[in-house]
Amino acid sequence: MQNIEVLDSLALSQVRSEIATPSFSQCVQELVTNSIDANASDIVCEFDAKNLYCKVDDNGHGFSDENLSRAGSRYCTSKCYSLADVNSNLRYYGYRGEALASVAKLCKELEIVTRRENSEVQYVKKMVAHEESIMSWTNSKNNTSPKTSVSFRGLFHDLPVRRMRINPLLEAEDVVANIKRIAIVHPNVIFSVVDTSLYSLQFSVPRHKDCLQRFQHIFEDIEAARFAKKIALPPECSGKFNLDGCMSTQGHVNKSVQFVFVNGRPVLKTKIHSEINSLLESSDISKGLVSSTDGNGSQNPIGSKSNRHVFKRTFAVFFLNILCDHDEYDICFEPGKTLVKFRDWQGLWLCISNAMMAFLKENGLITSCNQDKRSVTPESSPVRHDSILSKVNCILL
Ligand SMILES: Nc1ncnc2c1ncn2[C@@H]1O[C@H](COP(=O)(O)OP(=O)(O)OP(=O)(O)O)[C@@H](O)[C@H]1O
Ligand SMILES: [Mg+2]
Repeated sequence: MQNIEVLDSLALSQVRSEIATPSFSQCVQELVTNSIDANASDIVCEFDAKNLYCKVDDNGHGFSDENLSRAGSRYCTSKCYSLADVNSNLRYYGYRGEALASVAKLCKELEIVTRRENSEVQYVKKMVAHEESIMSWTNSKNNTSPKTSVSFRGLFHDLPVRRMRINPLLEAEDVVANIKRIAIVHPNVIFSVVDTSLYSLQFSVPRHKDCLQRFQHIFEDIEAARFAKKIALPPECSGKFNLDGCMSTQGHVNKSVQFVFVNGRPVLKTKIHSEINSLLESSDISKGLVSSTDGNGSQNPIGSKSNRHVFKRTFAVFFLNILCDHDEYDICFEPGKTLVKFRDWQGLWLCISNAMMAFLKENGLITSCNQDKRSVTPESSPVRHDSILSKVNCILL
């Protein structure tokens, strides 16, 4: 039997890098979330998914010269210093001190250019292969606003199979989707996202007054998003969980406009998503489209005069930001940082389902459903308010 030894540092660094930043879109997201963690209010992201290049410019606090010399060394972070911080202080997106080190390891060149507020000195750090260099120069006095650019090029340059298997179109879609998701919960931050391979502005948002306005701007092409309204937690439910969010009174053809965040951190494909869809299954939101069966195949809104109709399920359009103490949940520490488990799932679900029910009632999305449905499909069983309530109870039991 062979001896157990510590993996040599080169191998360790390679293995960790591929785990920490496994895809192009994840690398881009890491740079963007670093800008938010640096308190930026204006972020410009340029990317080229064909050439695996990205540059993120921000006006955040930048790097001090000491931080700059440590940046890109594995497990070096300014965001948490102890296990207690990691367990309780997840107010930043970053917590591992690994993203820059991993990207630097996987790309041909990583460059950081930074100038802090009121500083005349600009620093540039380049990381190429295993070499690092830092240069500085003095700017003219008139230009002392903070500015930081972090860029990489030639990602996965020594992983030819990985590089070959990348689908630039899908990666570009992921980049934009990830940034849109982050933008929802940062309405005070201006975002611009440019695909330099297409010379095209993929997405841009000005500063907004709140998340609802931001949400409607981002999804302005989706009709249902225009009917989004705030969701509020009924006062009797306030306790360890609070909710911020909005939902549309109309459904959408798929589940692509459903977002859940925990203290501003996006979480994907959670039980929360599936339970909300199941809860709303019998409400008007899910029965938004009727297809005419008179042979022309066209779809008409509810209330159409056609004789025979088939309901087509639609899905809720919402974002929900769950606000609670950090010790109420674990974010699973997988690379996407998007899985979550709650200590008190029942308590959380009670809040969410109550808020959803209050929203449905307030907007007449339970009773009107019965009337419309009866008038269009007499043979179908009417959806009743208490059937949704019993669903809430079932889920809680
Ligand atoms: N745009 C930026 N502006 C200012 N400081 C930055 C910026 N990007 C990174 N940093 C600094 O570099 C450090 C290392 O960044 P890195 O992304 O590698 O780790 P992290 O964000 O701390 O944790 P994680 O690996 O989970 O992202 C950060 O802790 C932060 O201090
Ligand atoms: Mg980071």
